[in-house]
Amino acid sequence: MRELNSLALRRPAGRLLVLDQRRLPHEECWVDCRGVDHMIELIRGLAVRGAPLIGVAAALALAQAAAAGLPAVEWRAAAARLRAARPTAVNLMAAVDRMTAAAGAPPGLDGPAVAAAAETIFDEDVRLCEAIARHGAALCAPGEAVLTHCNAGALATAGIGTALGIIRRGFEQGRVAHVFVDETRPLLQGARLTAWELARAGIPHTLLCDNMAAALMAAGRVRRIVVGADRIAANGDFANKVGTYGLAVLARHHGVPFVVAAPLTTVDRGCPDGRAIPVEERAAAEVRGFAGAAGVVGWTAPATPVWNPAFDVTPAALVTALVLDCGVWRPATDAAFPDWLKGRAHA
Ligand code: MRU
Repeated sequence: MRELNSLALRRPAGRLLVLDQRRLPHEECWVDCRGVDHMIELIRGLAVRGAPLIGVAAALALAQAAAAGLPAVEWRAAAARLRAARPTAVNLMAAVDRMTAAAGAPPGLDGPAVAAAAETIFDEDVRLCEAIARHGAALCAPGEAVLTHCNAGALATAGIGTALGIIRRGFEQGRVAHVFVDETRPLLQGARLTAWELARAGIPHTLLCDNMAAALMAAGRVRRIVVGADRIAANGDFANKVGTYGLAVLARHHGVPFVVAAPLTTVDRGCPDGRAIPVEERAAAEVRGFAGAAGVVGWTAPATPVWNPAFDVTPAALVTALVLDCGVWRPATDAAFPDWLKGRAHA
């Protein structure tokens, strides 16, 4: 197995290391993955997160388990548990399905094919991010101020990110001048992760609370919104971090272009529309307070009832441009998404 390196995942000889994103931005702490069930814990706990990254991390964990000699029956059972670790991002299911297909027919387990499949999934994600960034940056005019939500960067992929990949390449080309970062309640992926990534890349940015985005747009200070996606239905509706739908509605009201970026691996052709996308609901504690490297704080009575969907669904009609590795779909002017997709393969 060859060495692999990304901002959030490392595979030196015989080991699989993940950057614990719960501890960012205060600590850069790498965790040694001890097996598939440990990877499930890391994914559920959001140490490893972001739609493409959880697919890649799952593939590497399965390759590691096969190389360590996990018997075929146990490997397949572990793959099924891993596939169900989080329900919304389809990249996880797609990656695990590719790994089980590579393993071959039971009762065997083709170790070299499994190792090769994991490496292909990693390399492919790097390539797809670059293609998305190329298409997406070309949409931006010189000197734009863009707003993003959650973290769709190098921390969420094996490559340079999806939405943040566009921003990064756009900045290098002089098309993006400034980035407004939604803090992204309740788990603050924007404040903790996106702001950290932008600072590392030297890209000027400003953090705002999610409920400030409307006022910022009303003031004419946002030229474009760029976000990622966790699952794109066959009609172009998509799920992304909760708060995305509200931004899309605001963008339409204020005439701000709303751009969604994702690899083709995020498209679920079997899911007819947004109503069929399963939305993960998470623990009430995440809304009642916050636990992280900064400590533990609670701000409501401990028994306050809570609703905590991790994602929301945005209808395709609110999207200006869906940037995939294979091209840009514009719902207002292009053929319906399934027709536009026909015959398109990965970049
Ligand atoms: O719960 P998370 O942090 O995994 O949610 C991540 C998002 O919603 C991202 O925007 C999405 O996965 C795209 S990442 C390229």
